[in-house]
Amino acid sequence: MTELCGIALAHPIINGSGTFDAIAARRAFGDALVERFPFSAFVSKTITLLPRAGNPPPRLWEAQAGIINSIGLPNRGLQGYLEHDLPQLAELGVPLITNVMGSTAGEVAQLVEAIDARDEVAAIELNVSCPNVETGLDIGADPASLAALVRAVRPLTGKPLVVKLTPNTADVAAVAVAAESEGADAVSLINTLRASALAPGGEGRFWLGGQSGGLSGPAIRSIALAQIAAVARRVAIPIVGMGGVSHGTHALDLLAAGATLVAVGTESFRDPAAGTRIARELKSLQIAGSSSTTLQESEPQVQVDVKSADSR
Ligand SMILES: Cc1cc2nc3c(=O)[nH]c(=O)nc-3n(C[C@H](O)[C@H](O)[C@H](O)COP(=O)(O)O)c2cc1C
Repeated sequence: MTELCGIALAHPIINGSGTFDAIAARRAFGDALVERFPFSAFVSKTITLLPRAGNPPPRLWEAQAGIINSIGLPNRGLQGYLEHDLPQLAELGVPLITNVMGSTAGEVAQLVEAIDARDEVAAIELNVSCPNVETGLDIGADPASLAALVRAVRPLTGKPLVVKLTPNTADVAAVAVAAESEGADAVSLINTLRASALAPGGEGRFWLGGQSGGLSGPAIRSIALAQIAAVARRVAIPIVGMGGVSHGTHALDLLAAGATLVAVGTESFRDPAAGTRIARELKSLQIAGSSSTTLQESEPQVQVDVKSADSR
């Protein structure tokens, strides 16, 4: 068992927002999905105040070691989520984390207040990869904008508040510190890295309907590791680490870098049961690691004398 901000979890692997459609998976796999749900908690895709259709197609580009998505956060909007999605997600049998985003503090406040009123939701995640309507900068790219947002919405909920940081900033640790100092209970990172792809043919036409998108998958794993380690050095609140995790060894690395939980995103498109597999792999690695530590501690170490070994 593990926990996040007092929420008990069966293991440390959850999903990254927007990368596992639990409602569609339930339709496809029926109750088997609930009996063997791949994650110890479920994070919803981003919910906005009003419904969004998302970006025009194409919405995905397969990069060399990952994908660039320009999905554009299609969702039913707050009312649609509360009435249609949330009752179905509540049947999954794991704690629910609802991810919300707004382009003003007022919009985020309305989302947080409405979600706070629902007992089915264990925690709220703020997606702050959204342009500030006044400055044009992503709210999560600027410590002062993020601090103002968290200050405005923190008093509106007693549920754990997780701030999902953007990697598209000069100093992610400074943004994490701003979130912590205004009362965030945890931070999660990394979201996708801004990226583009051109259509084949050399005409310089962007492939994605939304022109630019976000890169995810193995290509961003080492960036995620560096950013998580940088944030862990500066904050005391728990970190949900993600970015390119496709095996238990990657999850183990993110935990070693300072994460409390690990989220799996892009890998679930390749293997819908990735969460279960990665949790199993992680557990075996942790058991192997602790038994080898015990061995090292209990057995006298053989010291190799390099000089005498060389001269033999
Ligand atoms: C297709 C797709 C949709 C995503 N949708 C969201 C979203 O709605 N909200 C959000 O906060 N992050 C979203 N993300 C970002 C992921 O949750 C995650 O932070 C990122 O993909 C890095 O993890 P990964 O490399 O394991 O995919 C999305 C990522 C992908 C690939």
